[in-house]
Amino acid sequence: MVIIIGNQKGGAGKSTLTLLLANYLSISKKRDVIVLDLDYQQSLSQKYEKAKMLENEESYQVVAAGLEHFPDMAEVLLSNPDKIVLIDLPGKLDDDGLIPIFTSADLVLCPFSYDEMSFESTIFFSIVLRKINARVPIHFIPNRFKANVRYDTQRDVDEQLEKFGTITKKIPDRIDFQRVNTQQTPLTVSPITTDVFDPIYQSYIKK
Ligand SMILES: Nc1ncnc2c1ncn2[C@@H]1O[C@H](COP(=O)(O)OP(=O)(O)O)[C@@H](O)[C@H]1O
Ligand SMILES: [Mg+2]
Repeated sequence: MVIIIGNQKGGAGKSTLTLLLANYLSISKKRDVIVLDLDYQQSLSQKYEKAKMLENEESYQVVAAGLEHFPDMAEVLLSNPDKIVLIDLPGKLDDDGLIPIFTSADLVLCPFSYDEMSFESTIFFSIVLRKINARVPIHFIPNRFKANVRYDTQRDVDEQLEKFGTITKKIPDRIDFQRVNTQQTPLTVSPITTDVFDPIYQSYIKK
C-alpha cells in the first residue's frame, strides 16, 4: 500500500511525521516499510545516510528519488502486497509528477497547523489531491500545537477540513519531536504518536 504524507506548506511536519510513522509501523507493528524521500531537500535520506555511516541496524530503507521516478519504483515495490510505501512529498504542487503519486495513494496524512498561512496551503493541497483522487481517505494531523496560544480560527478550520477528511488528535509543539530519526522515536514522543496512528492503523493499514 502507498501512504503519502503531504501538504503544500514547508515546515508543516511532513518529514517528521514520515519518520514517526515509519518507526511506528516497522518497530511497533513489525511491518515491512520503505520510505521514498521525494522532497527536493531530501532531509530524510540525509539523516538516514548519516545514521547508516554510524553502522546502526536499520529497520527500513529510505530512498531518495525525483517525482518522475515514482511510476517505475511503484511497479517494483507494489508487486509485494505486504510492503508499505511511505512517501515524503515536496512542499509544492505545480509538478505533473505528482499525478501518478496522488492516483496510487491508498491513504493520505496531512500535517498542518492552526495558523492562517498554513490553512490556505492545507486547503489548496486537499483540493488538488481530491481532483486527482476522489476517494482516498485523508487524515489531517494538527502539528506543533501550542497549549498556551488561543487559536481563534480552530473551529472554522476544523469545519472546512472535515469536508475533505478526518482530523486526528493533536501533536504538541515540543523540542523532543526534533530528535526523531530513522533509528528510533524518543520514548517521550511514542505515546503521543501511538494515539494518533493507532486508530488509522486499525481502520486502514492492518491486514
Ligand atoms: N511537533 C513538533 N514539535 C516541535 N518541532 C517540530 C514538530 N514537528 C516538526 N518540528 C520541527 O519543525 C521543522 C519542520 O518540520 P519538517 O518535518 O521538516 O517539516 P516539512 O517536512 O513539512 O517541511 C523541523 O525542524 C522539525 O524538527
Ligand atoms: Mg520535509
